[in-house]
Amino acid sequence: MSVCHFPESFLWGAATASYQIEGSPLADGAGPSIWHRFSHTPGTTANGDTGDVACDHYRRWREDVAMMRELGLKAYRFSISWPRVLPEGKGAVNPAGLDFYERLVDALLEAGIQPMVTLYHWDLPGALQDLGGWANREIVNWFGDYAQVVAHRLGDRVPLWTTLNEPWVFTIIGYVLGEHAPGMKDLWAGLKAMHHALLAHGEAVARLRTLLPSAGQIGIVFNLSPNHPASDSEEDKAAAERVQTMNNAAFVEPVLKGRYPALAERVLGYAWPPVHSGDMERIAQPIDFVGVNYYSRGIIKHTEYGYLRARGVANEGAQYTEMGWEVYPDGLYEILQWVHSQAPHLSLYVTENGAAFRDEVHDGWVADTQRREYLHQHFLRAHRAIQSGVPLKGYFIWSLMDNFEWAHGYTKRFGIVYVDYATQERIWKDSALWYQQVIAQNGVEGC
Ligand code: FCB
Repeated sequence: MSVCHFPESFLWGAATASYQIEGSPLADGAGPSIWHRFSHTPGTTANGDTGDVACDHYRRWREDVAMMRELGLKAYRFSISWPRVLPEGKGAVNPAGLDFYERLVDALLEAGIQPMVTLYHWDLPGALQDLGGWANREIVNWFGDYAQVVAHRLGDRVPLWTTLNEPWVFTIIGYVLGEHAPGMKDLWAGLKAMHHALLAHGEAVARLRTLLPSAGQIGIVFNLSPNHPASDSEEDKAAAERVQTMNNAAFVEPVLKGRYPALAERVLGYAWPPVHSGDMERIAQPIDFVGVNYYSRGIIKHTEYGYLRARGVANEGAQYTEMGWEVYPDGLYEILQWVHSQAPHLSLYVTENGAAFRDEVHDGWVADTQRREYLHQHFLRAHRAIQSGVPLKGYFIWSLMDNFEWAHGYTKRFGIVYVDYATQERIWKDSALWYQQVIAQNGVEGC
Protein backbone atom coordinates (compact mmCIF):
# COMPACT_ATOMS: atom_id res chain seq x y z
CA MET A 1 0.00 0.00 0.00
CA SER A 2 1.27 3.44 -0.78
CA VAL A 3 0.18 6.93 0.13
CA CYS A 4 -2.89 8.42 -1.55
CA HIS A 5 -1.75 11.96 -2.17
CA PHE A 6 -4.12 14.91 -2.10
CA PRO A 7 -3.82 17.96 -4.36
CA GLU A 8 -0.98 20.31 -3.45
CA SER A 9 -3.21 23.14 -2.21
CA PHE A 10 -5.59 20.87 -0.28
CA LEU A 11 -6.74 22.56 2.93
CA TRP A 12 -6.46 20.18 5.84
CA GLY A 13 -8.35 21.75 8.68
CA ALA A 14 -10.34 21.38 11.86
CA ALA A 15 -13.63 22.98 12.87
CA THR A 16 -15.26 24.37 16.00
CA ALA A 17 -18.17 26.67 16.86
CA SER A 18 -18.39 29.64 19.20
CA TYR A 19 -20.91 28.45 21.79
CA GLN A 20 -19.35 24.98 21.89
CA ILE A 21 -15.83 26.07 22.83
CA GLU A 22 -15.58 29.68 23.94
CA GLY A 23 -17.11 29.89 27.41
CA SER A 24 -17.51 33.38 28.97
CA PRO A 25 -20.72 33.86 26.98
CA LEU A 26 -21.59 37.19 28.58
CA ALA A 27 -18.08 38.65 28.78
CA ASP A 28 -17.13 42.12 27.58
CA GLY A 29 -20.63 43.30 26.79
CA ALA A 30 -21.99 40.24 24.93
CA GLY A 31 -25.73 39.57 25.04
CA PRO A 32 -27.22 36.17 25.91
CA SER A 33 -27.79 33.81 23.00
CA ILE A 34 -30.65 31.35 22.61
CA TRP A 35 -28.23 28.55 23.52
CA HIS A 36 -27.28 30.36 26.73
CA ARG A 37 -30.93 30.61 27.66
CA PHE A 38 -31.81 27.10 26.51
CA SER A 39 -28.95 25.37 28.32
CA HIS A 40 -29.85 27.29 31.49
CA THR A 41 -33.39 25.93 31.29
CA PRO A 42 -33.70 22.79 33.45
CA GLY A 43 -34.17 19.54 31.57
CA THR A 44 -32.80 20.66 28.20
CA THR A 45 -29.22 19.33 28.22
CA ALA A 46 -27.48 16.26 29.63
CA ASN A 47 -26.55 16.86 33.28
CA GLY A 48 -27.77 20.44 32.91
CA ASP A 49 -24.50 21.24 31.12
CA THR A 50 -24.08 24.76 29.73
CA GLY A 51 -21.53 26.62 27.63
CA ASP A 52 -20.58 28.89 30.55
CA VAL A 53 -17.01 27.59 30.60
CA ALA A 54 -16.80 25.04 27.75
CA CYS A 55 -13.14 24.89 26.61
CA ASP A 56 -12.47 28.39 27.92
CA HIS A 57 -11.26 29.21 24.44
CA TYR A 58 -12.34 32.85 24.86
CA ARG A 59 -9.38 33.19 27.23
CA ARG A 60 -7.10 30.43 25.96
CA TRP A 61 -7.24 31.17 22.23
CA ARG A 62 -3.51 31.90 22.03
CA GLU A 63 -2.67 28.46 23.39
CA ASP A 64 -5.21 26.90 21.01
CA VAL A 65 -3.78 28.62 17.95
CA ALA A 66 -0.31 27.42 19.00
CA MET A 67 -1.73 23.89 19.16
CA MET A 68 -3.19 24.24 15.66
CA ARG A 69 0.14 25.41 14.35
CA GLU A 70 1.86 22.43 15.89
CA LEU A 71 -0.70 20.12 14.29
CA GLY A 72 0.19 21.70 10.97
CA LEU A 73 -3.38 22.79 10.15
CA LYS A 74 -3.68 24.65 6.87
CA ALA A 75 -7.10 26.04 7.74
CA TYR A 76 -9.35 26.52 10.75
CA ARG A 77 -13.13 26.81 10.61
CA PHE A 78 -14.72 28.68 13.51
CA SER A 79 -17.89 30.66 14.05
CA ILE A 80 -18.55 34.18 15.17
CA SER A 81 -20.98 34.69 18.00
CA TRP A 82 -23.62 37.12 16.74
CA PRO A 83 -24.52 38.34 20.28
CA ARG A 84 -20.88 39.19 21.06
CA VAL A 85 -20.88 41.51 18.05
CA LEU A 86 -24.45 42.80 18.40
CA PRO A 87 -25.65 42.13 21.96
CA GLU A 88 -29.27 42.90 21.00
CA GLY A 89 -28.90 41.24 17.61
CA LYS A 90 -29.30 44.55 15.81
CA GLY A 91 -28.53 48.19 16.46
CA ALA A 92 -25.51 49.00 18.61
CA VAL A 93 -22.28 47.20 17.76
CA ASN A 94 -20.10 45.94 20.62
CA PRO A 95 -16.54 46.60 19.41
CA ALA A 96 -15.06 44.32 22.10
CA GLY A 97 -16.79 41.37 20.44
CA LEU A 98 -15.21 42.16 17.10
CA ASP A 99 -11.84 42.74 18.78
CA PHE A 100 -11.82 39.16 20.03
CA TYR A 101 -12.31 37.70 16.54
CA GLU A 102 -9.87 40.14 15.00
CA ARG A 103 -7.14 39.03 17.40
CA LEU A 104 -7.96 35.40 16.63
CA VAL A 105 -7.86 35.95 12.87
CA ASP A 106 -4.56 37.82 13.09
CA ALA A 107 -3.02 35.05 15.20
CA LEU A 108 -4.18 32.41 12.71
CA LEU A 109 -2.74 34.29 9.75
CA GLU A 110 0.48 34.79 11.66
CA ALA A 111 0.59 31.00 12.20
CA GLY A 112 0.04 30.40 8.48
CA ILE A 113 -3.49 29.04 9.01
CA GLN A 114 -6.32 30.17 6.74
CA PRO A 115 -9.43 31.23 8.64
CA MET A 116 -12.84 30.02 7.44
CA VAL A 117 -15.51 32.07 9.19
CA THR A 118 -19.02 30.78 9.87
CA LEU A 119 -21.33 33.71 10.49
CA TYR A 120 -24.03 31.63 12.16
CA HIS A 121 -23.50 28.44 14.11
CA TRP A 122 -26.72 28.54 16.13
CA ASP A 123 -26.12 31.15 18.85
CA LEU A 124 -28.85 33.58 17.86
CA PRO A 125 -29.08 36.70 20.05
CA GLY A 126 -31.83 36.04 22.61
CA ALA A 127 -33.25 39.52 21.96
CA LEU A 128 -34.05 38.48 18.38
CA GLN A 129 -35.75 35.28 19.56
CA ASP A 130 -38.03 37.53 21.62
CA LEU A 131 -39.16 38.95 18.28
CA GLY A 132 -39.73 35.49 16.79
CA GLY A 133 -36.17 34.63 15.76
CA TRP A 134 -35.89 32.82 12.45
CA ALA A 135 -39.67 32.64 12.19
CA ASN A 136 -39.80 36.44 11.77
CA ARG A 137 -39.13 37.54 8.19
CA GLU A 138 -37.34 40.63 9.49
CA ILE A 139 -34.41 38.40 10.27
CA VAL A 140 -33.35 38.57 6.65
CA ASN A 141 -32.25 42.15 7.20
CA TRP A 142 -30.98 41.60 10.72
CA PHE A 143 -28.67 38.89 9.43
CA GLY A 144 -27.63 40.97 6.43
CA ASP A 145 -26.71 43.88 8.69
CA TYR A 146 -24.76 41.59 11.00
CA ALA A 147 -22.85 40.06 8.06
CA GLN A 148 -21.98 43.55 6.94
CA VAL A 149 -20.65 44.59 10.34
CA VAL A 150 -18.40 41.53 10.50
CA ALA A 151 -17.17 41.91 6.92
CA HIS A 152 -16.32 45.56 7.54
CA ARG A 153 -13.90 44.52 10.25
CA LEU A 154 -12.53 41.20 8.92
CA GLY A 155 -13.25 41.24 5.20
CA ASP A 156 -9.74 42.27 4.21
CA ARG A 157 -8.17 39.30 6.00
CA VAL A 158 -10.52 36.33 5.92
CA PRO A 159 -10.39 34.39 2.63
CA LEU A 160 -13.25 31.92 3.27
CA TRP A 161 -16.74 32.85 4.45
CA THR A 162 -19.83 30.78 5.12
CA THR A 163 -23.20 32.20 6.01
CA LEU A 164 -25.13 29.47 7.87
CA ASN A 165 -24.16 26.21 9.47
CA GLU A 166 -26.71 23.46 8.84
CA PRO A 167 -29.96 25.37 8.32
CA TRP A 168 -31.90 22.08 8.44
CA VAL A 169 -30.67 21.38 11.96
CA PHE A 170 -31.27 24.76 13.51
CA THR A 171 -34.70 25.21 11.93
CA ILE A 172 -36.11 21.67 12.10
CA ILE A 173 -34.48 20.46 15.33
CA GLY A 174 -34.81 23.90 16.94
CA TYR A 175 -38.33 24.89 15.86
CA VAL A 176 -40.08 21.62 14.93
CA LEU A 177 -38.58 18.88 17.10
CA GLY A 178 -37.72 21.10 20.06
CA GLU A 179 -34.47 19.35 20.98
CA HIS A 180 -32.27 22.35 20.25
CA ALA A 181 -32.69 26.03 21.09
CA PRO A 182 -35.15 27.70 20.98
CA GLY A 183 -36.92 24.45 21.89
CA MET A 184 -40.11 24.97 19.90
CA LYS A 185 -42.41 22.28 18.51
CA ASP A 186 -44.20 24.03 15.70
CA LEU A 187 -43.97 22.78 12.11
CA TRP A 188 -45.43 26.01 10.73
CA ALA A 189 -42.84 28.14 12.54
CA GLY A 190 -40.09 25.70 11.53
CA LEU A 191 -40.85 25.90 7.83
CA LYS A 192 -41.05 29.68 8.02
CA ALA A 193 -37.68 29.60 9.77
CA MET A 194 -36.32 27.46 6.93
CA HIS A 195 -37.45 29.91 4.25
CA HIS A 196 -36.20 32.94 6.18
CA ALA A 197 -32.86 31.29 6.88
CA LEU A 198 -32.37 30.63 3.17
CA LEU A 199 -33.37 34.21 2.36
CA ALA A 200 -31.00 35.49 5.03
CA HIS A 201 -28.23 33.44 3.46
CA GLY A 202 -28.88 35.08 0.08
CA GLU A 203 -29.02 38.52 1.64
CA ALA A 204 -25.69 37.97 3.42
CA VAL A 205 -24.06 36.71 0.21
CA ALA A 206 -25.18 39.87 -1.62
CA ARG A 207 -23.86 42.12 1.16
CA LEU A 208 -20.56 40.25 1.48
CA ARG A 209 -19.98 40.46 -2.28
CA THR A 210 -19.92 44.22 -2.17
CA LEU A 211 -17.53 44.31 0.78
CA LEU A 212 -15.04 41.50 0.24
CA PRO A 213 -12.00 41.75 -1.98
CA SER A 214 -12.40 39.73 -5.17
CA ALA A 215 -10.42 36.84 -3.70
CA GLY A 216 -12.96 36.36 -0.90
CA GLN A 217 -14.86 33.08 -1.33
CA ILE A 218 -18.41 32.73 -0.05
CA GLY A 219 -20.35 29.55 0.67
CA ILE A 220 -22.90 27.86 2.90
CA VAL A 221 -22.68 24.69 5.00
CA PHE A 222 -25.30 21.94 4.79
CA ASN A 223 -25.67 18.76 6.84
CA LEU A 224 -26.11 16.10 4.18
CA SER A 225 -26.60 12.35 4.29
CA PRO A 226 -27.66 9.75 1.80
CA ASN A 227 -30.97 8.21 2.85
CA HIS A 228 -31.46 4.61 1.82
CA PRO A 229 -34.76 2.73 2.00
CA ALA A 230 -34.83 0.00 4.66
CA SER A 231 -36.35 -2.47 2.18
CA ASP A 232 -37.39 -2.77 -1.45
CA SER A 233 -41.01 -2.04 -0.60
CA GLU A 234 -42.59 0.90 -2.42
CA GLU A 235 -43.59 2.39 0.92
CA ASP A 236 -40.03 2.44 2.27
CA LYS A 237 -38.66 3.78 -0.99
CA ALA A 238 -41.19 6.60 -0.92
CA ALA A 239 -40.36 7.33 2.73
CA ALA A 240 -36.62 7.51 1.94
CA GLU A 241 -37.42 9.84 -0.92
CA ARG A 242 -39.39 12.14 1.39
CA VAL A 243 -36.48 12.31 3.84
CA GLN A 244 -33.93 12.88 1.08
CA THR A 245 -36.12 15.65 -0.31
CA MET A 246 -36.84 17.45 2.95
CA ASN A 247 -33.45 17.05 4.64
CA ASN A 248 -31.15 17.56 1.65
CA ALA A 249 -32.88 18.87 -1.47
CA ALA A 250 -35.21 21.38 0.23
CA PHE A 251 -32.09 23.25 1.37
CA VAL A 252 -29.67 22.61 -1.47
CA GLU A 253 -31.97 23.22 -4.44
CA PRO A 254 -33.21 26.69 -3.48
CA VAL A 255 -29.62 27.87 -2.96
CA LEU A 256 -28.18 26.28 -6.08
CA LYS A 257 -31.16 26.32 -8.43
CA GLY A 258 -33.60 28.87 -7.08
CA ARG A 259 -36.51 26.49 -6.45
CA TYR A 260 -37.95 24.24 -3.78
CA PRO A 261 -38.33 20.59 -4.77
CA ALA A 262 -41.89 19.91 -5.85
CA LEU A 263 -42.14 16.86 -3.60
CA ALA A 264 -41.38 18.91 -0.46
CA GLU A 265 -44.23 21.27 -1.21
CA ARG A 266 -46.51 18.34 -2.01
CA VAL A 267 -45.72 16.53 1.25
CA LEU A 268 -45.78 19.56 3.53
CA GLY A 269 -47.92 21.91 1.49
CA TYR A 270 -50.38 22.43 4.34
CA ALA A 271 -47.64 24.04 6.39
CA TRP A 272 -45.55 25.55 3.59
CA PRO A 273 -44.40 29.13 4.26
CA PRO A 274 -45.43 32.06 2.10
CA VAL A 275 -42.93 32.60 -0.72
CA HIS A 276 -42.98 36.19 -2.00
CA SER A 277 -42.12 37.14 -5.53
CA GLY A 278 -38.40 37.64 -5.88
CA ASP A 279 -37.62 35.37 -2.90
CA MET A 280 -36.17 32.51 -4.90
CA GLU A 281 -33.83 34.80 -6.84
CA ARG A 282 -32.68 36.35 -3.59
CA ILE A 283 -31.94 32.92 -2.13
CA ALA A 284 -30.03 31.73 -5.20
CA GLN A 285 -27.30 34.37 -5.18
CA PRO A 286 -24.20 32.98 -6.88
CA ILE A 287 -21.81 31.40 -4.39
CA ASP A 288 -18.28 30.03 -4.69
CA PHE A 289 -18.44 26.80 -2.74
CA VAL A 290 -20.62 24.41 -0.79
CA GLY A 291 -19.59 23.03 2.60
CA VAL A 292 -20.71 19.48 3.35
CA ASN A 293 -21.04 18.21 6.92
CA TYR A 294 -21.15 14.43 6.79
CA TYR A 295 -21.40 11.98 9.69
CA SER A 296 -23.59 9.05 8.71
CA ARG A 297 -26.44 7.89 6.50
CA GLY A 298 -30.10 7.26 7.12
CA ILE A 299 -31.83 3.90 6.66
CA ILE A 300 -35.46 4.85 6.29
CA LYS A 301 -38.69 3.00 6.94
CA HIS A 302 -42.24 4.08 6.30
CA THR A 303 -44.36 4.87 9.34
CA GLU A 304 -47.73 6.55 9.84
CA TYR A 305 -46.36 9.06 12.32
CA GLY A 306 -44.35 12.26 12.18
CA TYR A 307 -44.36 15.09 9.68
CA LEU A 308 -42.53 12.99 7.06
CA ARG A 309 -44.13 9.63 7.94
CA ALA A 310 -40.66 8.13 8.03
CA ARG A 311 -38.23 6.91 10.65
CA GLY A 312 -34.62 5.83 10.74
CA VAL A 313 -33.77 2.23 11.61
CA ALA A 314 -30.56 0.53 12.66
CA ASN A 315 -28.27 -1.57 10.50
CA GLU A 316 -27.75 -4.72 12.57
CA GLY A 317 -24.11 -5.62 12.73
CA ALA A 318 -22.75 -2.24 11.68
CA GLN A 319 -20.40 -0.19 13.84
CA TYR A 320 -21.99 2.75 15.67
CA THR A 321 -20.46 5.81 17.30
CA GLU A 322 -21.38 7.14 20.76
CA MET A 323 -23.99 9.35 19.07
CA GLY A 324 -25.74 6.22 17.83
CA TRP A 325 -24.70 7.07 14.27
CA GLU A 326 -23.73 4.26 11.91
CA VAL A 327 -20.14 4.37 10.66
CA TYR A 328 -20.68 4.49 6.90
CA PRO A 329 -17.73 5.95 4.97
CA ASP A 330 -19.17 5.18 1.52
CA GLY A 331 -21.88 7.71 2.28
CA LEU A 332 -19.32 10.50 2.09
CA TYR A 333 -18.39 9.52 -1.45
CA GLU A 334 -22.05 9.21 -2.38
CA ILE A 335 -23.07 12.58 -0.97
CA LEU A 336 -20.09 14.42 -2.50
CA GLN A 337 -21.06 12.99 -5.87
CA TRP A 338 -24.65 14.10 -5.35
CA VAL A 339 -23.75 17.70 -4.42
CA HIS A 340 -21.32 17.84 -7.31
CA SER A 341 -24.06 16.70 -9.70
CA GLN A 342 -26.28 19.54 -8.43
CA ALA A 343 -23.65 22.21 -9.07
CA PRO A 344 -20.78 20.93 -11.22
CA HIS A 345 -19.08 24.34 -11.32
CA LEU A 346 -18.77 24.80 -7.55
CA SER A 347 -15.89 23.90 -5.29
CA LEU A 348 -16.73 21.68 -2.34
CA TYR A 349 -15.30 21.40 1.16
CA VAL A 350 -15.97 18.78 3.76
CA THR A 351 -16.66 21.34 6.48
CA GLU A 352 -17.30 18.73 9.19
CA ASN A 353 -16.63 15.04 9.61
CA GLY A 354 -15.67 13.12 12.70
CA ALA A 355 -16.93 10.82 15.41
CA ALA A 356 -17.68 10.64 19.11
CA PHE A 357 -16.23 7.64 20.90
CA ARG A 358 -15.70 6.92 24.57
CA ASP A 359 -12.22 8.31 25.17
CA GLU A 360 -10.21 7.69 28.29
CA VAL A 361 -6.87 9.02 29.39
CA HIS A 362 -4.37 6.36 30.51
CA ASP A 363 -0.91 7.47 31.60
CA GLY A 364 -1.40 10.72 29.73
CA TRP A 365 -2.49 8.99 26.49
CA VAL A 366 -5.79 8.62 24.69
CA ALA A 367 -5.67 5.63 22.35
CA ASP A 368 -8.63 6.53 20.14
CA THR A 369 -8.06 3.86 17.51
CA GLN A 370 -11.70 3.90 16.39
CA ARG A 371 -11.66 7.61 15.63
CA ARG A 372 -8.39 7.30 13.73
CA GLU A 373 -9.84 4.48 11.68
CA TYR A 374 -13.08 6.41 11.12
CA LEU A 375 -11.16 9.40 9.78
CA HIS A 376 -8.84 7.23 7.72
CA GLN A 377 -11.75 5.51 5.95
CA HIS A 378 -13.49 8.81 5.26
CA PHE A 379 -10.30 10.44 3.95
CA LEU A 380 -9.97 7.55 1.49
CA ARG A 381 -13.52 8.20 0.20
CA ALA A 382 -12.70 11.90 -0.17
CA HIS A 383 -9.60 10.94 -2.12
CA ARG A 384 -11.65 8.69 -4.37
CA ALA A 385 -14.12 11.52 -4.97
CA ILE A 386 -11.28 13.83 -6.02
CA GLN A 387 -9.92 11.15 -8.36
CA SER A 388 -13.34 10.89 -9.96
CA GLY A 389 -13.40 14.63 -10.66
CA VAL A 390 -15.13 16.19 -7.64
CA PRO A 391 -13.49 19.60 -6.98
CA LEU A 392 -13.01 19.00 -3.25
CA LYS A 393 -10.69 21.69 -1.91
CA GLY A 394 -10.37 20.90 1.77
CA TYR A 395 -11.44 18.82 4.74
CA PHE A 396 -12.24 20.03 8.25
CA ILE A 397 -12.33 17.51 11.07
CA TRP A 398 -15.06 17.90 13.65
CA SER A 399 -13.59 18.72 15.97
CA LEU A 400 -10.30 20.27 16.93
CA MET A 401 -11.04 19.48 20.57
CA ASP A 402 -13.77 17.98 22.73
CA ASN A 403 -16.51 20.51 23.40
CA PHE A 404 -20.11 21.24 24.38
CA GLU A 405 -22.12 18.90 22.18
CA TRP A 406 -25.40 20.84 22.34
CA ALA A 407 -28.18 18.89 24.09
CA HIS A 408 -25.66 16.14 24.92
CA GLY A 409 -23.59 18.60 26.94
CA TYR A 410 -20.08 17.31 27.65
CA THR A 411 -21.04 13.64 27.44
CA LYS A 412 -19.89 13.22 23.81
CA ARG A 413 -16.28 13.73 22.81
CA PHE A 414 -15.60 14.53 19.16
CA GLY A 415 -12.14 16.09 19.50
CA ILE A 416 -8.84 14.89 18.13
CA VAL A 417 -7.58 16.69 21.21
CA TYR A 418 -8.96 15.64 24.60
CA VAL A 419 -10.10 18.37 26.97
CA ASP A 420 -9.85 17.72 30.70
CA TYR A 421 -12.70 20.00 31.75
CA ALA A 422 -11.52 20.14 35.39
CA THR A 423 -8.12 21.60 34.49
CA GLN A 424 -8.67 22.74 30.88
CA GLU A 425 -5.61 20.73 29.94
CA ARG A 426 -5.51 19.81 26.24
CA ILE A 427 -4.21 16.27 25.65
CA TRP A 428 -3.50 15.11 22.11
CA LYS A 429 -5.29 11.89 21.27
CA ASP A 430 -3.63 9.36 18.97
CA SER A 431 -5.82 10.68 16.16
CA ALA A 432 -4.25 14.13 16.50
CA LEU A 433 -0.73 12.69 16.19
CA TRP A 434 -1.88 10.66 13.21
CA TYR A 435 -3.55 13.70 11.61
CA GLN A 436 -0.34 15.67 12.02
CA GLN A 437 1.38 13.04 9.86
CA VAL A 438 -1.42 12.99 7.31
CA ILE A 439 -1.08 16.73 6.88
CA ALA A 440 2.73 16.56 6.74
CA GLN A 441 2.67 13.97 3.97
CA ASN A 442 -0.48 15.41 2.38
CA GLY A 443 -2.04 11.99 2.14
CA VAL A 444 -3.13 8.75 3.76
CA GLU A 445 -2.06 5.14 3.36
CA GLY A 446 -4.31 3.07 1.17
CA CYS A 447 -3.63 3.50 -2.54
C1 FCB B 1 -23.08 19.09 13.64
C2 FCB B 1 -22.84 20.48 14.20
C3 FCB B 1 -21.64 20.59 15.09
C4 FCB B 1 -21.46 19.36 15.95
C5 FCB B 1 -21.53 18.10 15.13
C6 FCB B 1 -21.32 16.84 15.90
O1 FCB B 1 -24.44 18.94 13.37
O2 FCB B 1 -22.70 21.42 13.15
O3 FCB B 1 -21.75 21.77 15.83
O4 FCB B 1 -22.37 19.38 16.97
O5 FCB B 1 -22.77 18.04 14.48
